[in-house]
Formats: sequence, structure tokens, C-alpha cells
Amino acid sequence: MSKTKLGANAERVDGRDKVMGKAIYGADRILPHMVHALPITATVGKGRITSIDLGAAEAVKGVLVVLDYRTLGRLKPVVFSFAGGHAIQSLQPLQSADVAYRGQAVALVIAETLEAAYEAAPLVKISYAAEPFEVEMSAAGQEEVKQAVAAPYFPDFVHGDPEAAVAGAPVILDEVYRTSPQHQNPMELLSVVAEWDGDHLTIHEGSQASQAMQCGLAVQLGIPADNIRVISPYVGGGFGQRGSLSPHTILAAVAARKVGRPVKLTVPRSQVFHATSFRGANEHHVRIGATRDGQVTGGVHLVRAQTSRFDLMPYTGEETTSRMYAWPAFRGATTLVKLDTQTPGFMRAPMEMGSFFALESAMDELAIKLDLDPVALRLKNDAVADPITGKPFSSRRLKECLERGAARFGWDRRSATPGSMQDPDGVLIGWGVAAGAYPGYIGPALAKVRLQRGGKVILSVGGHEMGQGIRTAIAVVAASELGVDPETIEIRIGDTAYPPQHTTAGAWGAATATMPVRDASRAIRQQLAGLATKQKGGPLHGQDPTSLTLQDGWLSGYGGRQRVDDILRTARLPGLDGEGRGDVPGLKPDALKQAAIGKISTAGPEFPDHVSFSFVAHFAEVRIDPRLPRPRVTRFVTVVDCGRVISRRTAESQAYGGIVWGIGSALSEGSEVDPRFGGFLNNNIAEYQVAVNADVRRCEVEFIDREDTNFNGLGAKGLGEVVCVGAAAAVANAVHHATGRRVRSLPIRMEELLA
Ligand code: MOS
Repeated sequence: MSKTKLGANAERVDGRDKVMGKAIYGADRILPHMVHALPITATVGKGRITSIDLGAAEAVKGVLVVLDYRTLGRLKPVVFSFAGGHAIQSLQPLQSADVAYRGQAVALVIAETLEAAYEAAPLVKISYAAEPFEVEMSAAGQEEVKQAVAAPYFPDFVHGDPEAAVAGAPVILDEVYRTSPQHQNPMELLSVVAEWDGDHLTIHEGSQASQAMQCGLAVQLGIPADNIRVISPYVGGGFGQRGSLSPHTILAAVAARKVGRPVKLTVPRSQVFHATSFRGANEHHVRIGATRDGQVTGGVHLVRAQTSRFDLMPYTGEETTSRMYAWPAFRGATTLVKLDTQTPGFMRAPMEMGSFFALESAMDELAIKLDLDPVALRLKNDAVADPITGKPFSSRRLKECLERGAARFGWDRRSATPGSMQDPDGVLIGWGVAAGAYPGYIGPALAKVRLQRGGKVILSVGGHEMGQGIRTAIAVVAASELGVDPETIEIRIGDTAYPPQHTTAGAWGAATATMPVRDASRAIRQQLAGLATKQKGGPLHGQDPTSLTLQDGWLSGYGGRQRVDDILRTARLPGLDGEGRGDVPGLKPDALKQAAIGKISTAGPEFPDHVSFSFVAHFAEVRIDPRLPRPRVTRFVTVVDCGRVISRRTAESQAYGGIVWGIGSALSEGSEVDPRFGGFLNNNIAEYQVAVNADVRRCEVEFIDREDTNFNGLGAKGLGEVVCVGAAAAVANAVHHATGRRVRSLPIRMEELLA
């Protein structure tokens, strides 16, 4: 076995299949007699359909039918995922003449070929009676609700009397920070192949939540969930976009039933911006009080967060900002603002990206007011226990993150005065720091592992591979327990035919899936060792089973060894089965049952005996030419405390991704709304600008890599989200350091830095 195949730096177990084109994604399925569906979307910001003329479209050669609200049929109501249901939003497609937002699907062309569908779509003539709408947070007179009242399951985070603590402080920072809506834009488009066999439906679609998709479709169609199988072995990027059931999936399912043939529906990039969730706009009012020597006396973090007219998408960023520093008093509270778009949802670090842009910009501003180094201010206010509950942290190595990052970056060479660091040609250099945290969640999972005679391992567990590397993490853990090459393990995930496929999100995926896999693998090792110690004549006969180790098909201990195949043959067994549940304190006893009916059922960040968060520190360098002030991020150092690193290679890749997202968030990513038209205007990846290679220069990533066994038996906390928390603030703080300009809204564009 080569060294790169073992241990924490194992190669991606699915890397070869991916580059060979053998990893099959949703729309890769090409089924016999398959036809194509293309949604048509509303062109008014809000209103009502007054007439639909399908004549010209249905006359196009190859078009089978065009469906609209008159012909799709009534769906049973599906519940929004954060109201205890399965769907990205409660509003369902093609159910009435009402249009709730621009870009909402209003008709569906079904044709023999994609070309015919695209030819027919613009020929569908729809007239609307337009109505007034609001798409901007800043518009006057919006409908607002206090989250803690409207959705009491998401309370405020309050401790002490923060208003008084801030008001009485000698130094006060009081500012408002804003973030734009953003869209996840994974490379793989939303796409589905739906296929009926009698009354059984099969859905091929990349999802982070195949069980929720299965159960939600069952609700919509009014059929048993057992009649539906969702198959999602690979996802071409999740980032929260595929965390529950989106409207296009039911359209494909109903279309396939209507035409009696498999239907492929790929949502065009331009439509994706309105077809499912996104990161809503936020406004953060941050107030911090401090003593003159930089001790915080209290914090108030009031958020206004966008939601839709018909669902309350919770915003819980203050759950984490309330734990970030040793606040003697704190209030975090959210007001939801109802706007006329689809329901916002999750996008990588969904609440924390905006919340920490605000908090960590505010800490930078406070450091300047206090004439303190911003790293020193953070270290001075590091929390020892959770300010909200008083419980200890399961682990908290923020201090190490800041110290190691500062050393690696060379922070001590920073001259504090803005604009004081320049290249010889006058280009301004800015160095910024920011920290971040993300709640430690963990979910339920059941793992089944089979070791066959001949050495083959087949393993199934709840989890979804969206490129983050969960297959590799699972393989590394099983391989180390069973002493096999990770690449030989067959991993079955993302498919509702296997154990419950709980939603993979919130950075809980690897910790959730690997624990039960470890336990199931250990169960097999124990059985094998038990058999060997019982089998008379074998060299391991009579030994203590717990002392035996397994490697490359041999069981060994006390100098003796025995072939696994011989043990199984003697026992007349074709193989051994192990099961693991990875029980975690704090999970409800019925958590796995909830997962099996498609419900999100996690524990954390508050556990019975502790609270859990992952931590990060970012150090960013920007260069800005004062004659054309376009910020360029030239260097980034990120140090992460995510507990034990299970798979170094995929963890590093995740961390680089977090940096790239931070750069994009800070400098270019924003979904533009126009109050005249509604919807999102820059609904393509030419105008919605994610950071690309040219925007990303030197990135260095380091892990503290100390296990947190209070959190779980493997010692691994979440990683995928925390790596981009605070990253945008580090860039914004660096921009200030370079230019003296404090930009309190994202993205920071060149025009805001012009004289
Ligand atoms: Mo993550 S944004 O919870 O998939």
C-alpha cells in the first residue's frame, strides 16, 4: 500500500472516478425514451396571470405538451423546512394564477429534445396584471416581524443588561453594516431526471438532503415515501443550495407521470437565481462598549434579515457572535423583513458570513478607537466559558489560531497607520485580521459495514458527497479500523435505498457520518477477533480479542497472526456485518427516526455539559493602486481549530475554498435587485462575479489539529462553514488599513474607494 493512500493525508477516494467521468451526477442519467422539460418564468415582480396562449409553442415539432397552473394538477401542501417540513419554501409551482415574485416558474415545456423545448419556450405568450412589490431591504414600509415572537423556536440571545453596559462604557462603537443577497452558484446546475415505474418514482438529482426530498415529494404527490427513491451519489457543489426540496423537482416528477416517459429537467443558470434558496440581504446594527484598556463591557447585535412574503427563514447569526468574546452582557436579536422573492435559505456559513463581517469589522474599528492592535484586542477578550449559558466550550483554540496566524503572516511587521505601507511604486498595502466561529452541530446516522471474504468492504451510511470530501473522510476512518486500502472500500451514500440520508449541511457531515462508520468497523473487528480467539488450532487461539490488530487481511497480536479469510472460512461465513450509530450526547432519542422521515434533527451548539464551536483566524493582505483603486488580495493566511483533522487533503481544499469565498464575498459577489423590475438582475456568472483564479493569489492554511473528544469520540468538529466566517471582514479590514476607507457594506467595489 502506498503511503499516500493511508492516514490523514489520503488521496481523494473518488478523485480518479471524477476525472475519468465515472462519477455520475443527476442529469448525467440518459434513460430510454427520456424527454426534456424547460420551465418558463414570470416576467413581472408580482401580480397575476391574466391569459396564457400555448398555441404557437405546442405547434413546435417535438413538443409534447406545455403545462401551466390550469393543467399541472393540484399538489398537496408541502411545509417549509424550517417550519418542520421538507421544502425550500412553502410556495409550490404552477398552482394558481398568482405570481409571488419575478422568476417564479409559471409554465413548463415538455419536448422530445432540449432544442425543441428551447424553441418553444419563448413562443408561450403570457399576460400579467402587475402588482406593486418590494425587493429592497431599504424600501420604506416593509412588513417586518420579530423573529423571537413569530418563530419562537429561534429565540434572541440575551445575557445581562447589555444596553446599559454599552451606554455606560467609556468607549463605544456603534455602527451599521450591510450585506447584499448572494447566490451559491455551484458548478452543477439544478437538474433532475424523474422516472416512473408504475406507481414508483425514481429521482436522480444531486442533493444534500435526499431523504427530505423523498419525503417532501411523497407529501406533494400524496403517495407513500416508500414508493419514491432518490439517488444522489455525487453533487456538483452544495453550499446550502441543495439542503431541501426545490420546486423544479416536483415539476419533473409530475411531467414524467403526465407524459408516461422519463423527464430530464435542467434549470438554466439564468433561472437558478430564482429557482431555489439564496443568501438573503442583512443589516447589522452592532454596538460594543469597552474600557479604555480594551476590555469589552457589553455587546448588542441587532439584525434585520430578508425573508419571503410566505415563509419565515430564521436568521441566527447572533447565536455565534454572542459566544465570540467574553461579553459581560449581550443581546442578539433578529427582525425578519418580508420581501417579494423566493424564500432565502442557506449559503455557506449562512448566518455567520454576514454576522462576522459586521462583528469583525466592528472589532477592527474598536481597536483603532482604542489605539490597540486588533489581534491584541481579540486576545484580550477571548472567552473562557460561554457568555450565554455559562457552560464550558468543548474546546476553544481561537487564541492559538490568532497567534499562529499572526506569526506565520508576519503581523509584527505591520505599521498601524492606514496608508503607511506601500510598494516602491506607490501601490498601497493593507493588512487585515478577522476571526470567526461556527456552531458545532452533529446529526444522527446509521452505518452498515460488511467485510467480505476476499477482503472487499462495502459500507453504507447517511451522507452526501458534494465535493467536500465526505467519501474520503469515511474511507479514511473505515480503512484505519479495518486495515484496508481506502480506495477499495465501496461507499454507498446519498441514496434513500440505504440507511437514513439525513441532510448534510451545517458542517456536520463528516463528524456525523464517520462516528457510526468507526463503530460499525470496530464491531466487525471485534467479531473477527472473537472468532479467531475461539478457533482451536489458529495461532491467535485463546488471546484477548481487544489486543488484536487488523491490517491488509491479517489479524495479529502477541507475535501470532492469522489470515482473515481463513478465520471466515473456518467459521463458514461469507463475511461479517457491523452496525454503528455513533450515539452523541444531546441528540434526541428519536433523532434517527426523524432523519428517516426527512426531518433535520441535529444537536448543538448547546450540549448538556458544554457548548461547541469551531474557530478560525484570517490574515489578509490587499494591494490597491490609488490611481485605480481595485483591491487585489495578494496573500491570505488562515488557521483553523476544527478539532482533529480526519482527512488533511480534503480539509485543506475546504479551507482554500473558504478563503476564495471570503474574497468573493468581500469584493465581488452580490445579487443585484432593481426596485423597478424585481427578481435578481445579474442572474448569470458573467455578471454575478465569484472569485476566480486571477483573484486568488498566495493562500496558506494551517490546522491546530487537536482532537475535541468532548464533542465526539473521533474528536473532529465541523470545518466546511467556519473556514469562510470572518474571511470577508479580514479583507475589508485590510482595505481600510491600505486606504483609510471604512466600507461597511459588501461587496466593496472600486467606486467606493475612489476619491
Ligand atoms: Mo450549508 S450552507 O448548511 O449546506
